[in-house]
Amino acid sequence: MAHVLETGFEISNRENPNGSPTVMGYNIINGELRPAWLDDCVGVFPLSTKEDVHEALISARDAFAQWSQTPAPTRGQIIGNMGRLLMQHKDDIVRVESREIGKTLKESAGEVQEAIDTCLFFQSEGRRLYGQTVNSELPDKELFTYRRPLGVCGIINASNFPSAVPFWKMIPAIMCGNTCVWKSPQDSPLLSFMLTRIMHEAGLPNGVVNLIHGKGSGAGQFLVDSVDEGLVNKISFTGSTPVGKMIGEVCGRNLVSCSLELGGKNPLVVMPSANIENAVEGAYWAAFGTAGQRCTSLGNLILHKDIYEEFMDKFMAKVKETKIGDSLRNDDVLYGSMISEKYASDFLRDLGICETDGATKLWGEGRITNENKPENFQGDASEGSYMCDDFENALHLANASPFGLSSACYTNDRLEAYRFKTGIKAGMTGINNSTTGAEAHLPFGGVKDSGNGTRESGIWVIEAYSYWHAVNDELSGKLQLAQMDVDEIHVKEAEADYASLA
Ligand code: UN1
Repeated sequence: MAHVLETGFEISNRENPNGSPTVMGYNIINGELRPAWLDDCVGVFPLSTKEDVHEALISARDAFAQWSQTPAPTRGQIIGNMGRLLMQHKDDIVRVESREIGKTLKESAGEVQEAIDTCLFFQSEGRRLYGQTVNSELPDKELFTYRRPLGVCGIINASNFPSAVPFWKMIPAIMCGNTCVWKSPQDSPLLSFMLTRIMHEAGLPNGVVNLIHGKGSGAGQFLVDSVDEGLVNKISFTGSTPVGKMIGEVCGRNLVSCSLELGGKNPLVVMPSANIENAVEGAYWAAFGTAGQRCTSLGNLILHKDIYEEFMDKFMAKVKETKIGDSLRNDDVLYGSMISEKYASDFLRDLGICETDGATKLWGEGRITNENKPENFQGDASEGSYMCDDFENALHLANASPFGLSSACYTNDRLEAYRFKTGIKAGMTGINNSTTGAEAHLPFGGVKDSGNGTRESGIWVIEAYSYWHAVNDELSGKLQLAQMDVDEIHVKEAEADYASLA
């Protein structure tokens, strides 16, 4: 079996209609390529078995001893190398991402940049990873806290953000000294393969990041099942709420930590004092950017009744002008193809649910086919728009969904903005900005059905991949009991009439 860096790419044919090659893809376990079982349009990748997953987990466990002892600044240096390699190969990575999941080139470039930003941010964290010195209540005794890695982390992410999100998870994980088994999203195996290869090129030792391909119900489930077998110390999952709850149950019964970043139905409120053009831009981008497939995409558009007509006229005009297509071949495309057939049919199913629930379809004829093609766009107001009478009503509607990921309010009334950010139950809020577009150094995540309270991104994520180790060093040479052998200082009784001075 060849090492990942000993071989180039195996091209199996060049017969794709767009001239792009079909490559042979592999799992990468302990730095070695493992052969493929299943083929698809971009390449041939394995449908990993339970044995493959176990092998990957055992490699990660074996690599942990050395990796966790590697000085954190050295781990940071390797992470910095990853960022620089991503920059060097950015254009190619971007094109592969667009080719594989249909995201526009501009958005893929934004996403790969988010992965780069994450590497550069955590490169220097390797030189911090601070603990504390704490004063003891007893003499000749020192107290310290250290961050310790958790062990083997199972990483599972969705294919809508196939480069930034796994980096959000794995970079802080390995920076803290953990090792990973990454279950690639099934719709972006080539991209995952490239990214894992680049991680190895950056100097990552074998076994620290292991990549397995396959379906959520296959390799993903095997990875989660392995928590019951004691092979996993952490699961980090981005995906649906039902699957997140299932993972939470498995981790909970094993007292294994899990980070769950789940769905959203993100509200965006527009009040009369808002700059309407700006609000239309923000709502339109939040709803239709990334073909509506971000977890932070606009879910519920809530408009004050006084600006409803004006807003909707401008909004629908933009919707109808939307240019859809393949951004690899056409310019100015906003809406690429859906990630996969499954995402398309889920959207159609949800549209059906909206109609059954009494929603009014404003525009659009469903799935785009050669026979059913709008001039520029296959539109729908699938996310629905509500009218509200006043701010309190808007806030109530914004909080009415079971989710609490992102949210937004357009207003130029400072008190409304304040009340929105204090009254909304969400992990993230934009004031006069769309629901999407979190930056790589702010905490990302939600409340309610959107997650279990863990956060991705920024310095806060370190909490999710390390535990605090409290150490006390008794230097006195004797047993001193906390609470019991502590000096007690009494208040002295003294005669003084302080009131006479006042
Ligand atoms: C996701 O959809 O899972 O804030 C992540 C945003 C992006 C990340 C989205 N930076 O919309």
